[in-house]
Amino acid sequence: MESSGGRAEAPGRGPRVLVVGGGIAGLGAAQRLCGHPAFRRLRVLEATSRAGGRICSERSFGNGLSRNPFPDPLSGTQRVSPELCRSWGYQGLTNRIMASLPEDVVVFNKPVKTIHWNGSFREASSPGETCPVLVECEDGGCFPAHHVIVTVPLGFLKERLDTFFEPPLPTQKAEAIRKIGFGTNNKIFLEFEEPFWEPDCQFIQVVWEDTSPLQDGASELQHVWFKKLIGFLVLPSFESAHVLCGFIAGLESEFMETLSDEEVLLSLTQVLRRVTGNAELPAPRSVLRSRWHSAPYTRGSYSYVAVGSSGDDVDLLAQPLPADGAEAQVLFAGEATHRAFYSTTHGALLSGWREADRLIALWDTQAQLPEPRL
Ligand SMILES: Cc1cc2nc3c(=O)[nH]c(=O)nc-3n(C[C@H](O)[C@H](O)[C@H](O)COP(=O)(O)OP(=O)(O)OC[C@H]3O[C@@H](n4cnc5c(N)ncnc54)[C@H](O)[C@@H]3O)c2cc1C
Ligand SMILES: *[C@@H]1O[C@H](CO)[C@@H](O)[C@H](O)[C@H]1NC(C)=O
Repeated sequence: MESSGGRAEAPGRGPRVLVVGGGIAGLGAAQRLCGHPAFRRLRVLEATSRAGGRICSERSFGNGLSRNPFPDPLSGTQRVSPELCRSWGYQGLTNRIMASLPEDVVVFNKPVKTIHWNGSFREASSPGETCPVLVECEDGGCFPAHHVIVTVPLGFLKERLDTFFEPPLPTQKAEAIRKIGFGTNNKIFLEFEEPFWEPDCQFIQVVWEDTSPLQDGASELQHVWFKKLIGFLVLPSFESAHVLCGFIAGLESEFMETLSDEEVLLSLTQVLRRVTGNAELPAPRSVLRSRWHSAPYTRGSYSYVAVGSSGDDVDLLAQPLPADGAEAQVLFAGEATHRAFYSTTHGALLSGWREADRLIALWDTQAQLPEPRL
């Protein structure tokens, strides 16, 4: 007889659970499940070589700057100066959760290609056990599971919608993924030999007086992309590093990602020369920037409720599959699945806990049944 729940198939051993993505949502889910005795067979499959996803300290930008002059407060997650301390917290949060997980729970460099659900799969090592889900990785590796928590960014889901789920997602859920917005926001760090700003200066605001509405088209963007810069945050000096952090969002930010470091440095030097009125202003000695839209496993920065979408789409995205069953084969977490706190780190963490709690509740309910579901 076909069985459906984890408990019935693996009495005493608990269900096989896979978490796809080792960002804060995936790590939060894993941490919660690890605290429960039934979830011993747990793996987090992470596409890249590090945990944390969009919580990304400067070190992962590469070796663009000499001597790694950035301490952790400049991690990938702060927006403006009051949040500097929060970023410290974010990186610390990732590190703490990682340290709390049993070794080998997180598998790195394991990009998932397709999630086969609504099936009946077996693993050679335990032929008596059937699982409704099979997670197929890009390297050909396959992992059967009773439950899979998908935490990949919405940008990635949008791009791979046609191939990531087999059978494809129900129409309504696919629609929600198309409708919810996923924007790009990047930071550009400029390191200077000497500060040209006053010691008490915290933010350099750029105001364009000749603003004509920004126009579409790559040829136009070439000449105007930098006008989208909000301004430059003056970072606290660290040893002899004097660093400004520029913020740029939208299409112009995506365009910036296609330019070389030299092109960005040249354009921003010209901007700063215009702003200061000093045509001799020395160019920064190095540039370092995020490129979230080009990152293959992210494809943008964070979600927003786009025109034509609503909180209901977020809830739809968060619904487990299959839609009509109590089984929860495929669950959805991640920043974009939190109706109230989408786009934020705490929204991502809460969503991971939410889905872990869903599985724990499912397990506890099944454990109370007089006999296993067969
Ligand atoms: C520039 C910037 C500034 C921000 N500022 C703030 C802020 O000030 N405050 C705030 O609260 N939030 C901020 N955020 C948002 C916050 O960083 C995110 O909401 C949060 O980190 C998202 O966590 P997540 O786990 O949902 O997704 P992610 O961190 O993106 O984790 C998803 C993981 O899935 C992995 N993955 C993707 N595809 C696959 C695959 N096929 N197989 C396996 N693994 C895969 C990815 O590599 C990644 O590790 C900012 C984000 C950016 C980019
Ligand atoms: C799931 O499998 C059942 C039984 O094989 C089938 O009737 C149903 O249509 C499938 N659902 C989807 C979404 O493919």
